[in-house]
Amino acid sequence: MYETIKPLLFKLEPENAHRIAECVLRSANLFPPLLEWALHDAFVTHPLLQQKLFGTTFDNPVGLAAGFDKNATMIAGTKALGFGYTEIGTLTPIRQAGNPKPRLFRHIDEESLQNAMGFNNDGLFLIQQRLEAYFPFPIPVGINIGKNKITPENEALYDYTKLIRELHGFADYMVINISSPNTPGLRDLQNESFIAELFTRAKELTEKPILLKIAPDMSPAQAVDLSAMAVETGAEGIIATNTTVDYSLLRCPRDAGGISGKVLQEKSFAILMP
Ligand SMILES: Cc1cc2nc3c(=O)[nH]c(=O)nc-3n(C[C@H](O)[C@H](O)[C@H](O)COP(=O)(O)O)c2cc1C
Repeated sequence: MYETIKPLLFKLEPENAHRIAECVLRSANLFPPLLEWALHDAFVTHPLLQQKLFGTTFDNPVGLAAGFDKNATMIAGTKALGFGYTEIGTLTPIRQAGNPKPRLFRHIDEESLQNAMGFNNDGLFLIQQRLEAYFPFPIPVGINIGKNKITPENEALYDYTKLIRELHGFADYMVINISSPNTPGLRDLQNESFIAELFTRAKELTEKPILLKIAPDMSPAQAVDLSAMAVETGAEGIIATNTTVDYSLLRCPRDAGGISGKVLQEKSFAILMP
């Protein structure tokens, strides 16, 4: 079905295409069997595909990365598409609009995207109400959290701990995002003292697993050191990787935003399997 509608979706401005997909997938919340019936073969599970990780059973290992369902509107629809789990967010304490449009670009020949979204999301208050309405979820859900753009770096800890405190009850796992390139100064938080302090505080707030999402723009050795340090201070796992700011990967890059997709694959794998 995707191959049929892809040429139509690609004629639309990327964020409009996303909005249409969201409208369709949201409808699964109103009447879940309808979308599951429409996509009846999509969800695949088999004992060989199942994994139990940090207390949660994942029916299949293909998950939807953060950024598609920033506002937790599509959890049921994500399962209907076949995903074994989803990661909502990145969400921030206060609702924010993100960067000015256009901020999402296709590089079709290179099968890649470039985005400068800037954590556009509905904020804690609204998203928490939505999660309450949809809980319990049909697939495992990770909650990916970030700081607001207006929060100074020396107060970032407060944003993360507030979100953990308010949302951990809904999450199968939580993800600390300090690796997006689209919030000024965010990646500076990828340092030992911030990570150690954050995970120490987080462990006091919840027993849920907390993972650290890292950027690909460091050497594999640096990534290993950072990850080892995060795990020592309480991280249950590492998500590798976020988007890259290595613009040399694209023939005609835009001058802002992080790059994902095929051109990132090699760099990302070098971090995942150094
Ligand atoms: C439009 C768009 C928005 C994204 N938003 C987020 C986000 O809010 N938080 C986050 O941690 N990652 C975000 N990402 C990064 C993805 O989760 C993923 O880490 C990245 O795209 C690399 O994986 P891929 O090459 O398989 O897409 C976003 C990616 C795209 C394309």
